[in-house]
Amino acid sequence: MRRPRSAAPAALLIRLDPEGESPLYRQLYTALRDSILEGRLAGGTPLPSSRLLAGELGVSRNTVVLAFDQLAAEGYLEGTARSGTRVARSFPCPGSAGARTERSRPGLDGLSARGRAIASVASPALSRGGSAPRPFRAGVPGLDEFPRALWSRLTSRRWRRPPVLGYGDVSGYTPLRQAIAEYVRAGRGARCVANQVIVVNGSQQGLDLAARVLLDPDDRVWMEEPGYPGARSALMAAGARLVPVPVDAEGLVVDRGRALAPGARMAYVSPSHQFPLGVTMSASRRLDLLRWAAEAGAWVVEDDYDSEFRYDTRPLACLQGMDEEDRVIYVGTFSKTMFPALRLGYLIVPEPLVDAFRAARAAADRHSPTMEQAVLADFIGDGHYARHVRRMRRIYSERQDVLIEAIRKHLAGVLDARLSAAGMHLVAWLPEGMDDEAVSARALAAGVEASALSRYAVDRLNRGGLLLGWAGYQPDDLRGAVSLLAAALR
Ligand SMILES: Cc1ncc(COP(=O)(O)O)c(C=O)c1O
Repeated sequence: MRRPRSAAPAALLIRLDPEGESPLYRQLYTALRDSILEGRLAGGTPLPSSRLLAGELGVSRNTVVLAFDQLAAEGYLEGTARSGTRVARSFPCPGSAGARTERSRPGLDGLSARGRAIASVASPALSRGGSAPRPFRAGVPGLDEFPRALWSRLTSRRWRRPPVLGYGDVSGYTPLRQAIAEYVRAGRGARCVANQVIVVNGSQQGLDLAARVLLDPDDRVWMEEPGYPGARSALMAAGARLVPVPVDAEGLVVDRGRALAPGARMAYVSPSHQFPLGVTMSASRRLDLLRWAAEAGAWVVEDDYDSEFRYDTRPLACLQGMDEEDRVIYVGTFSKTMFPALRLGYLIVPEPLVDAFRAARAAADRHSPTMEQAVLADFIGDGHYARHVRRMRRIYSERQDVLIEAIRKHLAGVLDARLSAAGMHLVAWLPEGMDDEAVSARALAAGVEASALSRYAVDRLNRGGLLLGWAGYQPDDLRGAVSLLAAALR
C-alpha cells in the first residue's frame, strides 16, 4: 500500500496574523480544522512535522504542537511523535481502498473519541519516565541525600505491625491525612480539616481527577503561559480547551484571562513558584483571581509543588487559605520533598466536593498503596519529614550557589542567571534573538539536559531561556555540566 504523500506546508495555505486577536496556536488550529472539515485535507493525509511547519510559518514549534494536540484531542488528527501526525482516517479519503483497510485496523479506530484524545496528548512523562536524570533536568530532587536506611527501617517496622492489608479508605490512610491536614494548616496557611484531604498518586493524578470531576469536554481553562506540561496534558485529556494566559512579574495576568475567556470554568495556577518562570503571585493578583472565580463560578486549581523550598523568607501562605468561597482545589506532592517514585501527593478539596472526588477515585483505582502511606505517616509523625526538608533546603541553597557561580565564571555574557528565591530550578535567559530550542539541542548533544523555555509556551516568547534544575545534582556534576554547556555554546 502506498503511503499518502505528506501535505507540503506551503500547500496548507495557512496564513497566521501575529497581530490577530486570537493566539497563534488557535489560528493554526482553526485553519487546519477548516481544511479537514472542508475536505481539502483528506483522511489519512500525513502532516508535516511540527518543526517543519513551525519553520515554514515562522512560529515557535510549541505553537504548532499545541494546535496539533488540540486537534488530536478533538479527533481531527491522529498518530504519535514517532509515526508522525496525520488527518484522522475517520474523515473522508476519496477513492482510497488502502485507507479503508487501515481504517479497520484494531487499536486505532477501536478507540473512543476520548481515548483518541488521551492517546494523542504529548506528555513529558511518556518520553522521560525511567531514564536517569542528568544535569540540568528540572524537577529532580536530591535523591543522593534521601535517608534510605531510615526509610528502610521504618518500612520493616511497619511490616511487623502492618496497617490494614485489605482495601483501605478511598481518601487515604487516616493518620497520613491527619498529618497532611496539620502540615498544610501550619506550614502553608491552608484552611481545612482532614476530611478534605484526598491522598493521590502524585499531583498528576490529582490534576487528572480535578479535570475529570470538574470539567466537561470543551470547557475553557485558563492555563499559565508559559506553563506546566503535566497540567496541560491532564486538562487536555479531559477535553478542555486551554486558554493561554500570560504570566508577568506578579504571576498570572488575571485581567488578560478576564479579557480572553471571562466565562472559563477553571484556572490552573502555581502561585508560590510559578512553573517554569519562578515568579511568586502577588497578593493583589491572588485576590483578583479569587474574585473572578467567585463571580464566574469557576474553579481554581492551585499547584503547590515545591513551596517548601523557599530561601529568602518563610514559605508564603497558599491561595487556598485566602479562599472564602470554596473555589480552590489545592494540589500538593511528596515528589519533591521525598522522591518521585513514591507517587504520593494530595488534594485539599472544598467540603462540598469531597464525595464526588471520592467517587471518582474509587472508580479509577480505589486508593493509593496503604503501606507507603503508613510509612510516610510515620516519617512525618516521628519528626523526620520536617528535619529532612530543613536539611534539603540548606543543601539546595548551596547547590544553587554553585550553579550561579559556575555560570558567572564560564557563561558570563551568554546566560543571564539570577539566584532564585525558591524552588529547585531557575530560568537562565539567553541573549535576545537566540533560539533556545537550538541551544537546548546543542546542549543535549553535549550530554547536558537544559530544556528550552519555549517548550513550555504556546505562543512565541519575547526572549528565550534555558530551564536549569540544580537540586538533584552534586556540586561537581553541576560544575562539569556548566563547562560542557559553555563548550557547546562556544
Ligand atoms: C509544576 C509541577 N507540578 C507538579 C509536579 C509533580 O508532579 P507529581 O507529583 O505527579 O510527581 C511537578 C514536577 O516536576 C511540577 O513541575
